[in-house]
Amino acid sequence: MKKERLDKILSHHGFGSRKDCKSLIHSGRVFVNGETCTDCEFPIDTEVDVIRIDDEVLQIREHVYIMMNKCQDVVSSTKDGLHKTVLDLLSSEYKINFLGGDLHPIGRLDIDTEGLLLLTTDGKLTHTLTSPKNHVVKTYYARLKNPVDIANQKEYSALFSSGLNVIAEGHEEAFVAKSATLVWPNENKCEYLTEFGDASSEVMISISEGKYHQVKRMFATVGNEVVFLKRISVGPLSLDAGLKPGEYRELTADEIRLLLG
Ligand code: URA
Repeated sequence: MKKERLDKILSHHGFGSRKDCKSLIHSGRVFVNGETCTDCEFPIDTEVDVIRIDDEVLQIREHVYIMMNKCQDVVSSTKDGLHKTVLDLLSSEYKINFLGGDLHPIGRLDIDTEGLLLLTTDGKLTHTLTSPKNHVVKTYYARLKNPVDIANQKEYSALFSSGLNVIAEGHEEAFVAKSATLVWPNENKCEYLTEFGDASSEVMISISEGKYHQVKRMFATVGNEVVFLKRISVGPLSLDAGLKPGEYRELTADEIRLLLG
């Protein structure tokens, strides 16, 4: 059972500042379990009590879970002096203090990477999905500068699967990557044809860690270059194909259950 003050709950659900919420409560428009409540400090059991404002029942929620198709030119952080952040893409409905904590992106995508980015107030989920101990698999679609013919596709696949010695970048040291899986379009009997015939500049890569510029550095290690990168899935959750870059939606109850396990 979790108890919170009535005015705090209202202000964490978009009813304005604590002062605004106090006047709303004093106005007699707020009901708790069917009775008018004018006590701002009234302790609410968030799992049981029903709050109503005029005729509308408040759906009390502790956490928010959002799936975004991150677009390029925004950074995956909550603040940045220079660039727009993923939080700037959200509507005012999400620019409030939530009951369960601050809304933040789960992990990072580079500024020029698109695709699935989860945002939440649930620190436990963030930890589950980002802790290196949990080996959560992330799948990316990558477009490469140099198309790779079938012989080299086999070689790339073997190297990536056996643990690549990834080159250093800037202050980031070289490291041995955990086994990664590559899927080339030709392997799927040319489900989608490339403009290069047998050679493909397109590949899906699945990794279970999240080092700085990991995918780009892995392909740089084998002498190629990633020219476009999009994350398609994180653990059991895939990007909703209906979301255009920069769009987002809340996760469904089933998707939240899938992630929380
Ligand atoms: N690997 C990269 O190189 N960049 C990303 O944004 C994510 C994975």
